Amino acid sequence: MKSKILEILEKSEGYVSGEVISKEIGISRAAIWKHIKKLRELGYEIGSKTNEGYKLIKTPDYLTGFELERILFTDIIGKKVLFFEEVDSTNNKAKQIASEEKEGTVVISEVQTSGRGRRGREWNSPKGGIYISFILKPNIPPEKAPQLTLVSSLALVETLKSMDKKLDAKIKWPNDILIKGKKISGILTELSSDIEKINHIVVGVGVNLNTDKNALPETGTSLKTEMGENVSIKLFLKLFLEHFDLVYKEYITNGINKIIERWKFNSDTLGKKVKIIGMNETFEGLAKDIDENGALILKTGEKEIKVYSGDVSLR
Ligand code: BTN
Repeated sequence: MKSKILEILEKSEGYVSGEVISKEIGISRAAIWKHIKKLRELGYEIGSKTNEGYKLIKTPDYLTGFELERILFTDIIGKKVLFFEEVDSTNNKAKQIASEEKEGTVVISEVQTSGRGRRGREWNSPKGGIYISFILKPNIPPEKAPQLTLVSSLALVETLKSMDKKLDAKIKWPNDILIKGKKISGILTELSSDIEKINHIVVGVGVNLNTDKNALPETGTSLKTEMGENVSIKLFLKLFLEHFDLVYKEYITNGINKIIERWKFNSDTLGKKVKIIGMNETFEGLAKDIDENGALILKTGEKEIKVYSGDVSLR
């Protein structure tokens, strides 16, 4: 309802009377007044004049979950957005609420105090970056959960390329996004399931959006650096969540095959000689392909082996 009122106010140049709004959306003038009050609390500056009605003067300077929800054109992702200035970890927050929340709920924060990376590492999460966790509940067997990492990395790399065709964004197996060989984003997928059924999957994505150069390691970069200007958080999130929605729906409807084709097209790893440092072992060989769950098929001498996780470096 609040969104509908805002839409009406946004469309009109001058004041709109309570009566007109009430006719258009079919609620009482008293109810409208209550919603206007709520909107003001959310940071929307709304003028009111006796006998003339309401006028939108200014939307909030800061981003809110509600503001993002209302500008998104999606079916599943971002129907509910929880936006924070600071949390320990958006993945932690998402996992805490996942069982009560609908699929597609997104937790976003501008800072994380205990951001987590893959393989138990810390994920440095200063202001300037953006930290996003998606709550997903796909009807797939638990062993297919890693496919969601492929879905997410593809959605992000395609979003980045849609922002600027010149951006040479690529996916480094298993799930880092690089621009010109430097890391701009990492993805941490976490699964809650029993043997047969997934309860939920939380996909956490950290993006160096406007992160200061000196807050990043030599091997990292930010979108601001690569695009040469500050990037609007609101625009980036709108594009990313909308694109995520499209790729996720394609996955739910048609499965992983087409997604894998697109993933391969955007891969920085396939066809290269690599060294992979796994949990207990190190592998070297030619990165030939990925299988349907995202495991890397590595040609080492005459043999082909599957590697499920690890850190890749080029040889
Ligand atoms: C990696 O490259 O090691 C993965 C990094 C994943 C970081 C994101 S930021 C949002 C979400 N919350 C976390 O604590 N981690 C993920």
